[in-house]
Amino acid sequence: NHPPFEPVKHTRDPNNLPMLDDFYYGTFPDDFAWSSATAAYQVEGAWNLDGKGPSIWDTHSHNGKIDNNDTGDIACDSYHKYHEDIKLMKDMKMTHYRFSISWPRILPDGTAQSFNRMGVDYYNNLINSLLAANITPMVTLYHWDLPQTLQDKYRGWANETETVSDLFAEYARICFREFGNRVKFWITLNEPRVVATQGYGDGHMAPGIVGPGTTTYVAAHNLIKAHAKAYHIYDEEFRQTQKGQIGITLNFDWHEPKNMEDPNDLVASEIGNQFWLGQYANPVYVNGDYPDIMKYKIGNKSLHLNYSRSRLPEFTDHEKNFIKGTSDFFGLNFYTSNVVTLKSTPSYKVDYNEDPDITSTKDPTWIGSGSPWLKVTPWGLRKALNWIRNHYGDVPVYITENGVSDRNGSLQDNHRIYYYKHYINNVLKAIKVDGVKVKGYTAWSLMDNFEWMRGYTERFGLHYVDFSNPNRTRTPKASAHFMKDLIVHNGFFP
Ligand code: NOJ
Repeated sequence: NHPPFEPVKHTRDPNNLPMLDDFYYGTFPDDFAWSSATAAYQVEGAWNLDGKGPSIWDTHSHNGKIDNNDTGDIACDSYHKYHEDIKLMKDMKMTHYRFSISWPRILPDGTAQSFNRMGVDYYNNLINSLLAANITPMVTLYHWDLPQTLQDKYRGWANETETVSDLFAEYARICFREFGNRVKFWITLNEPRVVATQGYGDGHMAPGIVGPGTTTYVAAHNLIKAHAKAYHIYDEEFRQTQKGQIGITLNFDWHEPKNMEDPNDLVASEIGNQFWLGQYANPVYVNGDYPDIMKYKIGNKSLHLNYSRSRLPEFTDHEKNFIKGTSDFFGLNFYTSNVVTLKSTPSYKVDYNEDPDITSTKDPTWIGSGSPWLKVTPWGLRKALNWIRNHYGDVPVYITENGVSDRNGSLQDNHRIYYYKHYINNVLKAIKVDGVKVKGYTAWSLMDNFEWMRGYTERFGLHYVDFSNPNRTRTPKASAHFMKDLIVHNGFFP
């Protein structure tokens, strides 16, 4: 159900600007990090092996919430096949690998009392094998697989007390203690916005809580605090000895003004970006608090006649000081863009972290993908990088995810080469022309894997995985060869 892809010859971008003419030839900085990513639940399998406890995603998939009734029970079986995975990275000459640790594999019930040595061993083996292959691990602590016990006992991220964010901090401390002598790049949370809006808002993602009104904002609030607590533990207890860096990964859809000449649309773009990214980035990178525009529109009770209280929780002054400045880098997941325009009559009846005043759509001329939400907008990445620099300063940016899906799994994936080529070229322009401090680029994903609600139907891999084969055989796609050439040359040449 996706439109055919234009081959690499495609010469016009969606703004109808010449693209290939405009293509930037040049190289990336010498120390640029080239990475690919996965996440524990999406690739590991072994869902109940060696003492692992259940996560909210085990429950969600076992409850039949996924297309085709797919589950992550086996997934890519990376729990047993990580040596093969490392070989694929080596073949592409990748310098880094981004993976996540499954909290309930290490702490089956979410608490330190349940510490599971066998889970720790798995990650020790993975980390040691990566280092032996000269690949630097970039480790995410939370990529959505909350221990089920914490959902059951405390309502998970919708917890009304400090308990769950404290338990996350304790889990983080255990990871720093066990792995920090070798892991020097930590990401606390992956895409908290998705957790809050889809896990505790529209209920599409685990734990599937439909939480109109306040719940989604409570979840976001807890996630931001959890991140800051983990950051401070690293900063105060480990940084001096371990000498690594720690930050957060936020997802950002660029909000393109429908009409650049219309000042209202420029306002809509700014508001859209603030609601999408600023909710998380403003506290961490600016002042410990939500963007003013959000506080005004969501936090202001008088504007929300259908709610009895402000839906946006408030940080105390102490919390603001605690949250401000808690990221050594900006981890950016970028895939696509939206076109926005200002509504003539604002509606305040929105429930899920949405701005009441803007209309957000996809331009029908944009090239599609195997995922309905993912339209190809390479220029959006360059604009996003510039917006980040303009709002959050000269912070080093790591692109921690970028990639594209299809549903046929073709090994001759020209559309993926097209996507990577043009998105990565826009990263190069952001570095060379605009002076944005981008330090690394991560492709999503190393291989086809469990794409959340879409199960195995949407494939993002540089490698094809045969999910009907018990061996879960991996085969490089044309895009894996493209990526290797790009990395070997460290840039684009005419
Ligand atoms: C972002 C998420 O972090 C990742 O888990 C997911 O598979 C990709 N986007 C693609 O949807």
